[in-house]
Amino acid sequence: MKKAIVMAGVLFALTMTAGCGSQNQDHAATAESQTQDTAGGSGTAAQSENTDQKQTDGDRTDTAEADVTEEALQDNENTEKSSKVLVAYYSATGNTKAAAETIADAAGGELFELQPAKAYTTEDLDYNDPESRVCKEHEDPDLQDVKLEGVTPESFPNADVVFLGYPIWWGEAAWPVNEFVKENDFTGKTVIPFCTSASSGLGDSGENLAEMAGTGDWQEGKRFSSGVSEEEIQNWIGSLDLAAK
Ligand SMILES: Cc1cc2nc3c(=O)[nH]c(=O)nc-3n(C[C@H](O)[C@H](O)[C@H](O)COP(=O)(O)O)c2cc1C
Repeated sequence: MKKAIVMAGVLFALTMTAGCGSQNQDHAATAESQTQDTAGGSGTAAQSENTDQKQTDGDRTDTAEADVTEEALQDNENTEKSSKVLVAYYSATGNTKAAAETIADAAGGELFELQPAKAYTTEDLDYNDPESRVCKEHEDPDLQDVKLEGVTPESFPNADVVFLGYPIWWGEAAWPVNEFVKENDFTGKTVIPFCTSASSGLGDSGENLAEMAGTGDWQEGKRFSSGVSEEEIQNWIGSLDLAAK
C-alpha cells in the first residue's frame, strides 16, 4: 500500500515534469607581516640610535598595530555574523538544482553539484521500465554505489553549514548523494538536508543520511515540491538562524 502511494507520487511527478584554518591564523599572519613591513621601512640601526627617530618609529608602529587590531576585530565580528555556507546537491532533471541555486543565493553560499561519473540519461531514469538503470539500482542496493566526478569541494573544510539537496527516489534520498555523505567528515558542521519531490515528504531520508555520515549536526531539513517558487525557498532560508550555526 505504502509503495502504491509512493509510486502514485512518482507518476504525479512525471506528469508534472512531462513537459519536461583558520581565520585567526590568517589575521595573525597579516598582522605580523604588516608589523614587519613597518619595521623594515623605517627601523635601520642608525635610526634606532636617534631618539627622535625612535619616537617616530614608535608612533608609526602604534598606529599600524591599532589599524591591524581594528581590522582583526572587524573581521571577527563579521565571522560571528555570517557562517560559511556550502550548498551541495544532486539533481537528475533540474528541479533540485533550481532549488539549490536559490538557496545559495539567499544564504550567500557556494554551490557544489554532485555529478555522477556516469551521468543518468532519460532512459536511465525511466522507473516504468524494470530494465532501466534506476530500477535495477533500486532493486539491488549494491548497485547504488554511484561514483561521483568530485566528492569534496575546496571550500568544504571551511564550511560551517552544509545544505545537502537531492530528489526523492522511491521515498528516499536519491543515492547519487551517498558517496558525498560517506566520504566527507562533517564534524563541527551543521548539515541541512533539502529535497524536491512530486508528492512524497522528506520521510526518513535526512535521518538515514545522518546515520550514513556518522558525523555532523544534522538538522530536520525541508522538502519542496518539484516546481517550488523562489519565494518559498527564500522564506525558509530567512527562518533559519544561519549566523548562529
Ligand atoms: C527514479 C525516480 C523515482 C522517483 N520517486 C519519487 C517518489 O518516490 N516520490 C515522489 O514524490 N517523487 C518521486 N520522483 C519524482 C522526483 O522526486 C521529482 O521530480 C524531483 O523534483 C526531481 O528532482 P530533480 O529534477 O532535481 O532530479 C521520482 C523520480 C525519479 C526519476
